[in-house]
Amino acid sequence: MSGTSLDGIDAVLVDFGRDSPDILGKFFMPFDDALKRSILELQHPTHDELHRTQLIGNQLARQYAHAVRSLLDQNACLPEQVKAIGCHGQTIRHCPEQGYTLQIGNAALLAELTSITVISDFRSRDIAAGGQGAPLVPAFHDRILRHPEIHRVIVNIGGISNLTDLAPGQPTTGFDCGPGNLLMDAWCMQYLQRPYDDNGAWAESGKVLPGLLDRLLSEPYFRLPPPKSSGRDLFNLAWLQSHLQKNEAPEDVEATLLLLTATTIAQAIRKHCEGAQEIYLCGGGAHNSALRSALANQLSDCSIATTSDLNIDGDFLEAIAFAWLARQNLAKTPANLPRVTGARHPCILGAVYPA
Ligand SMILES: Nc1ncnc2c1ncn2[C@@H]1O[C@H](COP(=O)(O)OP(=O)(O)O)[C@@H](O)[C@H]1O
Ligand SMILES: [Mg+2]
Repeated sequence: MSGTSLDGIDAVLVDFGRDSPDILGKFFMPFDDALKRSILELQHPTHDELHRTQLIGNQLARQYAHAVRSLLDQNACLPEQVKAIGCHGQTIRHCPEQGYTLQIGNAALLAELTSITVISDFRSRDIAAGGQGAPLVPAFHDRILRHPEIHRVIVNIGGISNLTDLAPGQPTTGFDCGPGNLLMDAWCMQYLQRPYDDNGAWAESGKVLPGLLDRLLSEPYFRLPPPKSSGRDLFNLAWLQSHLQKNEAPEDVEATLLLLTATTIAQAIRKHCEGAQEIYLCGGGAHNSALRSALANQLSDCSIATTSDLNIDGDFLEAIAFAWLARQNLAKTPANLPRVTGARHPCILGAVYPA
């Protein structure tokens, strides 16, 4: 799994032989700055992007293969013991309204380099059936994190934030709330040349700008009813710049972005997950203590914990979910939730590249 944050690759070795998935190994490999920059440059139209997309796709495949090899070595596992790799790929466009989403990473090359069957391109089939192609993780949350009596909400704070509503006796729902870490990260990189604001310390050194917060919150996406999904296509530095008056102190902007993430998540929960009792955070944003406090302030009637408190490592939950999606593909079992994505029907997700 490599997500919108562009922090790196999360690799997990999972055994689905029993009722609940057994996590046998985990490995994280950060992206180097040059690769991160070249992926970021592909997020918008640029010169000769077809050619560069393919070259970076190949580079990604080599990095994914490296992560797989390291994971297997670390766990004394041989490629022939592995049924399949579920590889999300790196999203460079997400345009479900225009009928497509694009994750790159050359799955054929990954199969060639690892001698393991690869399943990739999980989102396109759902979009072909009229869905958003995202989020796909709620189906997996539904499988492993439901409680029969307690109303839980799972909030994944990656580059984008998304939630899964697990209300007892109700079908599972979910959608992308809006920006998770990606605006805070981009602003922090621009001013401090750091990939993220550790624990929101820089944000906490500034003060929230209420006028800016209101302008950011006026973005129509936040009021759209689900199903909905988003990405860097909408939430990026240009979007932020268009709301700035240009005289703001950078730390005040960071403080406002942190509150934007917390507010849009809290509003989504209040509006769409009525009666929520327990909130479980996952994704990198769950480590941000200032963000956790801001969420706790706004959701004082719910308990807030991380999925690690449910014995599922929140840094690898999405990677585990994509391993499960690969398994569903091999079992020829549909894995999208049409209520979540808006697809007309359940679909088998993913394209197979045999070993
Ligand atoms: N200690 C921390 N403080 C603040 N933010 C953090 C911390 N640890 C991780 N993050 C954030 O989490 C991001 C990575 O989250 P991740 O769940 O991998 O997102 P994605 O799925 O989009 O790759 C980092 O880019 C950073 O913004
Ligand atoms: Mg990541």
